[in-house]
Amino acid sequence: MNRLSEEVRRRRTFAIISHPDAGKTTLTEKLLLYGGAIHLAGSVKARRAERHATSDWMKMEQERGISVTSSVMQFAYQGFQINLLDTPGHADFSEDTYRTLIAADSAVMLLDNRKGVEERTRQLFEVCHRRRTPIFTFVNKCDRPGGEPLQLLDDVEKDLGLRCYPITWPISTGNTFLGVYDRLQRQVHLFERGADHGQTRALDEAIELDDPRVPELLGEDAHTRLLEEIELLEMAGTEFNTADFLAGEVSPTFFGSALTNFGVEPFLKVFLDMAPPPMPRETDVRVVEPEDPRFTGFVFKIQANMDPKHRDRIAFVRVCSGRFAAGMQVKHVRTGKQLRLAAPTQFLARDRTIIEEAWPGDVIGIHDRGTLRIGDTLSDDDDLEFGGIPRFSPEHFARINVPDPLRRKHLDEGLRQLSEEGAAQVFYADSIAGPAPIVGAVGILQFDVLLHRLEHEYNAKARLEPLSYRHARWVEGDERKIHEMASGGYGRTLVHDSKGRPLVLFDSEWTMRTTVEREKDLVFYDAAP
Ligand code: G4P
Repeated sequence: MNRLSEEVRRRRTFAIISHPDAGKTTLTEKLLLYGGAIHLAGSVKARRAERHATSDWMKMEQERGISVTSSVMQFAYQGFQINLLDTPGHADFSEDTYRTLIAADSAVMLLDNRKGVEERTRQLFEVCHRRRTPIFTFVNKCDRPGGEPLQLLDDVEKDLGLRCYPITWPISTGNTFLGVYDRLQRQVHLFERGADHGQTRALDEAIELDDPRVPELLGEDAHTRLLEEIELLEMAGTEFNTADFLAGEVSPTFFGSALTNFGVEPFLKVFLDMAPPPMPRETDVRVVEPEDPRFTGFVFKIQANMDPKHRDRIAFVRVCSGRFAAGMQVKHVRTGKQLRLAAPTQFLARDRTIIEEAWPGDVIGIHDRGTLRIGDTLSDDDDLEFGGIPRFSPEHFARINVPDPLRRKHLDEGLRQLSEEGAAQVFYADSIAGPAPIVGAVGILQFDVLLHRLEHEYNAKARLEPLSYRHARWVEGDERKIHEMASGGYGRTLVHDSKGRPLVLFDSEWTMRTTVEREKDLVFYDAAP
């Protein structure tokens, strides 16, 4: 096997999707602990503050050097190179999260054993499901009593239409968590609560289910219960089907406790074995195989603020094929220009290091002074473009103004660059709504970030005037009909995005729905067509 194939084969690039508080930070920390990337869990903990991100996020970011937006963690474990794409926990940064999921090859859906599927789990699942991303399920917090596991999995299927295939199963007396049973190995892993609150690896002894010590170790009740449940699972009779898993229809499911580390290592091992390595990706010209020696990649995220004074920003590029080498010259397909990628960085938790090479599945950070945009393709020399990085329909809108008219140019320049970065979406109103641009955001917190950055990076102190619109739909059709539709009633207005495409803002779900239903000659889209 050549080097490229070997590197592709051992890469696993994934993201964790969950509702806040399910334990994503804790699980991330434990995966890094097992990967040897950190020695004592707890160092990622500061990042938990991001959950509480409110308008003081900038202070937080400056003081702690943390980022409220996503980063990438790379670590090695048993011969695998793992890229864990971290996604912001705060729902206000959901656009960032959605885009990050596009760079992942699989996802781990983390559930709280008492709460099952929650609102944010559902939203993030939808994004993965649309792309048919293979999904693992990890039911967390099993160290304390939760819902009936069978019921929980049934609820997941009813709610998301995702079938769960248990790989491990919790062993408990109903009140006390004793361990997990590994259905693939037919082994029992007994849980021992360490004295250090999960700072180090869990003690984990695996015993064959048929070992004569098992009934005694579990106690009669838990043992009988386990045997009954195993039988029920076997009776359900479903064989694990890899094709269904790879299509995102069946989810290998695990039980454990990130806090105490229990069940984390058995999960990690099976995960690495089953999760797909980087897969072929479609472009407008051809399907790109990861083992194609010609380098390709795309920008899925741009993060600024690393040093606001220099407008230094980092473009996160997911490598899709070939070998990336530092200093390499690549083609920036959108502009046709050649770019030298001088000092790419790689990420481990909060530290960045300079790298010499990267392979498909890896994420590299490229220093950028405003050339790159989200969705841009970089390639060896081919004129191909990766698609599929959607923009999401904003839910909050505000007119943006600078009190000082001399700053208007700064404002426009700032808005142009920030919208390229994906920090906010900018719309231009037709005359009815006035000349000031309108900014749209998926989460309200994005506005705070926007104002702060306009002031500090572009010297444009702006103010927002919130608008009551809540939904946006891009619209296609006869121009006259579009104007008639937009002006023929209350609660809607016509604007254009930065590429001149028309869209309508609606003040309520009802106005939007009735308009879309009535206007049969027009086509409405929830993301830019
Ligand atoms: P998030 O990133 O998904 O928002 O969740 P995070 O890891 O911050 O965990 C949320 C809370 O759940 C934390 O408690 C954490 O300790 C707890 N937790 C995570 N995993 C487990 C688990 O396996 N078992 C139990 N029992 N709890 C778990 P907290 O009270 O908010 O913080 P702390 O005081 O424990 O630090």
